[in-house]
Amino acid sequence: MTVHVDFEPVGRRGQCPTGSTLLNCARELGVDLVNLCGGGGTCGRCVVQIMEGEVSTPTSSEGKFLSSEQLAAGYRLACQTVPLGNCKVRVPPESLTTPQRTQVEGEELPVAVEPPVQTYLVTLDPPSLDDLRADAGRLLEALAQQYGVMVSILDLAVLRELPLRLRGEGWQVRVAVRDEEVVALLPSAVRPLGLAVDLGTTKIAAYLVDLETGRTLAVKGVMNPQIAYGEDVIARLAFAGESPAQAARLQELVVETLNQTAIEMCAEARVAPAHIVEAVVVGNTAMHHLFVGLPVDQLAKAPYVPAVASALDVKARDLGLHFAPGATVHLLPNIAGYVGADHVAMLLATGVTQAEGLVLAIDIGTNTEVCLVNHGTLTSLSCASGPAFEGAHIKHGMRAANGAIERLRLVDDRVEYQTIGGAPPVGLCGSGILDTLAQLYQAGIVDSRGRMGEHPRVRDVQGVREFVLVAEDEWGDGRPAITFTQKDVRELQLAKGAMRTGINVLLEVNGVTSDEINQVIIAGAFGTYIDVASAVAIGMLPRLPLDRFRQVGNAAGMGAKLALISKTKRREAQAIASRVRYIELATAPQFATTFAQAMYLG
Ligand code: FES
Repeated sequence: MTVHVDFEPVGRRGQCPTGSTLLNCARELGVDLVNLCGGGGTCGRCVVQIMEGEVSTPTSSEGKFLSSEQLAAGYRLACQTVPLGNCKVRVPPESLTTPQRTQVEGEELPVAVEPPVQTYLVTLDPPSLDDLRADAGRLLEALAQQYGVMVSILDLAVLRELPLRLRGEGWQVRVAVRDEEVVALLPSAVRPLGLAVDLGTTKIAAYLVDLETGRTLAVKGVMNPQIAYGEDVIARLAFAGESPAQAARLQELVVETLNQTAIEMCAEARVAPAHIVEAVVVGNTAMHHLFVGLPVDQLAKAPYVPAVASALDVKARDLGLHFAPGATVHLLPNIAGYVGADHVAMLLATGVTQAEGLVLAIDIGTNTEVCLVNHGTLTSLSCASGPAFEGAHIKHGMRAANGAIERLRLVDDRVEYQTIGGAPPVGLCGSGILDTLAQLYQAGIVDSRGRMGEHPRVRDVQGVREFVLVAEDEWGDGRPAITFTQKDVRELQLAKGAMRTGINVLLEVNGVTSDEINQVIIAGAFGTYIDVASAVAIGMLPRLPLDRFRQVGNAAGMGAKLALISKTKRREAQAIASRVRYIELATAPQFATTFAQAMYLG
């Protein structure tokens, strides 16, 4: 038995099993609804509006998040609502996880191109009655004779296509060799390709690279489709932990996205995914494990141990990727359960591990990883900054999509703001949220404890104080107000407090103070767009001269690219991972007191 569900304005409609929640129907039909708690009814973010049709009666969770007026207007939590027949559902923009601006650019370090896969144009003598050597032996002998390259293994998938390819290509092929193995046969005029991927919890950045020149041919940023199953690592691990089928679903989703992304980038560069002979993937340890299909239960429970920390080489086909038949996916090493290969890639790309003096490198995300480089020693930790700066748990928070307020200033009692795409305001994205808090704090409207005081734009709504950023009547088109609430301030204090605690604990265990920091490197999408002055104003980052901060964009993606085109950089990544001293933040003796202090603004 099924019901017909129509999601608008995204225009996705179809049959869904009777008894499924609207959240599950949305998943079935490929509508990416925000669901921070993975459907538990505790985050209140999967809000939809029932336009037509009958649905189940509101649950107590919905009563907590939706006012009686909203319920009367048909607003519901998708994870709590079951269609009782065919229905039409409106999805407000802030409940959709896409589209989102994704950060793919980063600073590139110059590096000698020295890829792990080399290609050789080989011409073979066709067999005859006097020369009955098998195709494989003939190829390997030609490689040895023409290039002095001694290869002993042919990947089985390559072997399977060898007879047809040799005859089809007129006995001349470009042979791709990795270590001592033939991993692909390419047409003679084709250059080998590589794919570097930064597999983030929220976003995926991919770079298609010419492996001979190291030149980037195409870049693409897409959302991680696993978001439909939980926005942060914890929710994702919980979903995967429920059954092997659910873990497999998360793996498939990423693989499908990578296959599709490779197709689109190859079309743009007029090349073929079948010519991708090597890929490098970096991500946090959870993304890494889910992608490879490793168990994640142990990652979700103390003491949060990864299944594997060293670098891995896996056949792309074993993961479901449609690249060259014997292509390899290289995964950079992880450091610990919550400091993964993306941190290693960031350290590799920024070159901070060779920095003189005291350097802080921060990759801000749902989990923020911080490394303190202290005259050559590396100490890293991860802090659960949470998705507040992705707009989650913030009343009018949203991702960086069209209409998101990305910059905001208070001028006297006026609010000046800039939105992404110049569109009418819909909500606040991370950089806008940060600016708002900094402006309210600097104007004295929010004090250092985070209490919101009196102001002509401050009002009380159902006992919660809020600052009106965009009033109801401001646009004259009936759009709702955009406000910043006392609760939002508290959420941000937690996020900012977690980050600052990480920084302070690193300084303390190294016996240094923040004044001694020579440089602060800020990586990651959110870090790229923030106004550093705002981050310093609220005390998220240490108070240092602004010229000591460097925003480097997607350094993890750049690190993946370096490891793709340079074997030396790949070895360096391994060395970095083994040099890092990891600290489990929650068990650091100074954690509780440092965190309590770090919650203060300013
Ligand atoms: Fe529905 Fe969280 S409340 S997904």
